Amino acid sequence: MVDADRPGDSALPSSTAPLLAVRGIVKEFSGVRALDGVDLDVRPGEVHCLLGQNGAGKSTLIKVLAGAHRPTSGTVEWQGREVRPTSPVDALRSGIATMYQELDVVGGLTVAENVFLGHELSRGGVTRRRELHQRTRELLDRLGHNRLSPGREVGSLSAADQQIVSLARALSHDARLIVMDEPSAVLDSEEVGNLFRVVRQLTADGVAVLYISHRLEE
Ligand SMILES: Nc1ncnc2c1ncn2[C@@H]1O[C@H](COP(=O)(O)OP(=O)(O)OP(=O)(O)O)[C@@H](O)[C@H]1O
Ligand SMILES: [Mg+2]
Repeated sequence: MVDADRPGDSALPSSTAPLLAVRGIVKEFSGVRALDGVDLDVRPGEVHCLLGQNGAGKSTLIKVLAGAHRPTSGTVEWQGREVRPTSPVDALRSGIATMYQELDVVGGLTVAENVFLGHELSRGGVTRRRELHQRTRELLDRLGHNRLSPGREVGSLSAADQQIVSLARALSHDARLIVMDEPSAVLDSEEVGNLFRVVRQLTADGVAVLYISHRLEE
């Protein structure tokens, strides 16, 4: 697995303290060593691309960061403090959002309901709904996708648009690090171009992105 880090791309000086500092992460599954001492620093506004062949351990690493796996050894520091996220919700609350390759949107719900899934705001009547739609519209605007209607059922959207909904959800939680596991796998080349534009915009806002792919040209 390779971290194609290009610090020169960052708008911020590399002396900025890391948001995320991964040290010596080892993960074993009943004797199989999936991760063997991973170190990784991610600073605000940086994009890191993790490249590696099937079985290299990319998904295992992000599942450790998301709290879905406990590491066998090693530490994860987030904003200067050691953390041990115990679940994806836990990680999300602390500002680490993960977009899984198997998109975790709910087909039968609307765009707005998916974006605010699990938020307090999602419970309530008409006033709440109006506010929900307004805030969803703001997030979609920020992602340059204002043509997506908050009331639209998510099951009727393309995979690319469903990813945008997943990204809007990450932003609704004020994520400071967004992890994308092979997002390009379900996208055509134009949609990949759009995603890159969104990634550049996020990093300009100081959000860090960990981008997983097995396509070297990306
Ligand atoms: N829950 C699990 N139980 C046992 N072994 C696992 C588990 N998850 C992953 N592994 C093993 O760990 C290794 C790394 O797998 P991982 O899914 O992290 O690879 P990857 O780099 O994401 O691959 P891909 O490109 O196919 O998504 C593989 O050998 C895999 O079989
Ligand atoms: Mg994987």
